[in-house]
Amino acid sequence: MKETTALVASLSLLEKAALLSGANTWQTRAIERAGIPAVWMADGPHGVRRQVGSADHLGINGSEPATCFPTAATVAGSWDDELAEEIGTALGREASSQGVGVLLGPGLNIKRSPLGGRSFEYFSEDPELSGRLAAAYVRGIQSEGVAATPKHFAVNSQELRRMVSDSVIDERTLREIYLTAFEIVVREASPWGIMSSYNLVNGAYAHENAHLLIDILRQEWGFSGAVVSDWGGSNDAVAAAAAGGTIEMPSPGFDSVRQIVAAVESGELSEADVDARAAEVIDLVRRVTAHPRASVDLDAHHALARRAAAESAVLLRNDDALLPLAGGTSVGLIGAFATVPRYQGAGSSLVNATRVPTLVDAVGASTLKLEGVAEGFRRDGIRDDELHREAVALACRAEVVVLALGLPEIAESEGLDRSTLQLPAEQVRLLREVRAANPRTVVVLSAGGVVETPWAEDAAALLHAYLGGQAGAEAIADVLTGAVEPGGRLAETMPLRLADTPTAGAFPSAGRTAEYREGPFVGYRYYETAEVPVAFPFGFGLGYTTFSYSELVADAEGVEVTVTNTGDRDGSDVAQLYVSRLGASGVTRPVRELKGYAKVRLAAGESRRLRIPFGPRTFRYFDAAANAWQVEAGEYEVAVGSHVRDLPVRATITREGATVSASVDLPAALPTTRVDDSTFAAMLGRALPDAAWGTGPLAENDPMDRLATAKSPLARAGFRLLDSRRRKAEAAGKPDLNILFLLNGPFRVISKMSGGLATRRLTAAVLTLVNGQTIRGLGRVIAAYFGGRRDEKATKKAFDAAATKRSI
Ligand code: BGC
Repeated sequence: MKETTALVASLSLLEKAALLSGANTWQTRAIERAGIPAVWMADGPHGVRRQVGSADHLGINGSEPATCFPTAATVAGSWDDELAEEIGTALGREASSQGVGVLLGPGLNIKRSPLGGRSFEYFSEDPELSGRLAAAYVRGIQSEGVAATPKHFAVNSQELRRMVSDSVIDERTLREIYLTAFEIVVREASPWGIMSSYNLVNGAYAHENAHLLIDILRQEWGFSGAVVSDWGGSNDAVAAAAAGGTIEMPSPGFDSVRQIVAAVESGELSEADVDARAAEVIDLVRRVTAHPRASVDLDAHHALARRAAAESAVLLRNDDALLPLAGGTSVGLIGAFATVPRYQGAGSSLVNATRVPTLVDAVGASTLKLEGVAEGFRRDGIRDDELHREAVALACRAEVVVLALGLPEIAESEGLDRSTLQLPAEQVRLLREVRAANPRTVVVLSAGGVVETPWAEDAAALLHAYLGGQAGAEAIADVLTGAVEPGGRLAETMPLRLADTPTAGAFPSAGRTAEYREGPFVGYRYYETAEVPVAFPFGFGLGYTTFSYSELVADAEGVEVTVTNTGDRDGSDVAQLYVSRLGASGVTRPVRELKGYAKVRLAAGESRRLRIPFGPRTFRYFDAAANAWQVEAGEYEVAVGSHVRDLPVRATITREGATVSASVDLPAALPTTRVDDSTFAAMLGRALPDAAWGTGPLAENDPMDRLATAKSPLARAGFRLLDSRRRKAEAAGKPDLNILFLLNGPFRVISKMSGGLATRRLTAAVLTLVNGQTIRGLGRVIAAYFGGRRDEKATKKAFDAAATKRSI
């Protein structure tokens, strides 16, 4: 390939515009005569989902076998950047071996609420931890010559109406909480791509949001890669090209191409913007075609997946050191998840795993004696007393019970937020019965997020194994036997009740807007500042040994601390550094924030002096009025320990910086769960946008579930049909992701997802029909359909003729 600028200069406007959207569901467009090949994109964050047959973006059709690594929520528990990079490298290798140039991950949205349906795909409620781990994945993936696409940029916290919801957020919270993780990834790992999110941010769709894509991503952070839209997430191709959105996926046919060409010809869009975006596509293609295909050792990757899951599992209770279990212990294995593991979530990240051993297989192959197996409960939550009886009988016979509880598949899926944090009642009932029969009961949880644990007292030991990927069951057995130390520490707070969470009652938002009224008080930032008791704090996790912290010394560049393994087994801990502003501050802020961490592995009795450096983010806050990061002059406490509520060693240091006399950024009343309209308007610095859905005719960016209120009786009937299919699928325990996508999506997906069959004009015509003008609408639909087919054919012909035949 020629040098990028020369190559762009040699392309026609049509060719350049054609590069800015996909050729089909997964590939970019090729321009053969210019030597620009098509490249493959594939999900995703914890395994490669390369589809060679029927393509879809929701994990519905099959894909090539690939290693299913633990999901991001799981690996986050390891707090281990090196492990994350190893997984990234393995993902890159598998992608490369399958001819995938662009891997769609990792996902690093902040867990605003534990109800978020994709929490299992994201790392943490904390930006420092999310950003560092995601950066490690990106370094690993790209070391194999494959582009990483960290996603979803940005402020994409809920699944409900994810393609039409406007995240309304004050600038300081945006910067400190929702963008910092992306900033870390961009600055520290230079991803070649980034995926914009479906939602709007403060009134503009993410893929055409100049503040996000130009001011911040490109100008401030220096990102030089390609911004890939989420699938169907591009709203207006012309606005995107002007605002820094590079490539629209999947293929909208040539409709967007025609819009871009027309906009340049009419002067609405500058050709320089098209050139810049085309150059970004070419650079991406160039980068990912520079390496030969890798070969893969699937056994080695399975072993890595196993180690990762074991080192990430979080031990929450271990009464009387019940765990680890000695070789030969007789174990009664109970629970539906023991025979059919839950190891990943549903949706676009679904991997066709190379093998999936069960807990029955894994315990059977371990040093433990498998006394028996009982299903115990039905996954769908329906009461079955016979299953309970069998389980209790087994519990009476066994020395120890391992009870595999968790969330059923329906609870955690892309496209669907959770409605509760409770475990299904039948599982809790079973736990109580089993525990009455055998107090030596170890509960192993399989879930991609947190659950309420009012039943924790009934578990002599409690291991949160999260979603451990294809080797998750073997990893659990490794932890139970002590072959591996449970190295996991919570990357998210486990609240006592849903009602205690900072967005309780307000998440997910069903309106046009999702208002981030809690500001930066997300996760532990809220619980610590508002002094809300929690079940298990952020950063918490037990091992099979104990650690102490001593002799903290702070200087201008960091802290040093001695960590000692005070037990009689080798083990690991995560030394966590939190920073608090002391004394009267002019800045409303959380009482403490995570600013560094180090995973440390020590032999029994060993001590090590550890240094955790400060960095550019340690003391900063975002001054929205000045639109700049500042350090407030004054005293800070730096504290180190093993979780946010156990920080035994501390020091006070003084930092130079700005003098801030009165809080200007956020109201001093925060945190509170009751931010009223005027307080929120003050945080935003503008009037609140209208949250209600309009009552007028439906428009292309209204969600399709508003068909329920359409003027046309036919459209309302259509809605009822879709909705009844949605309900039926959910009642059967398996969400219909296609229907959910449609209902949560706007009318514009008709043209965006049809691969050229429908145009934007056709969508407008359908809306005429939906809005009750039947005869006129039908006429328009017919005209738009045939007109669209004609235009499509003509543009394709012109593009094919130019792209394949013309010589340079
Ligand atoms: C998801 C993305 C995914 C894309 C392609 C979308 O529905 O939000 O995370 O990468 O589909 O499958």
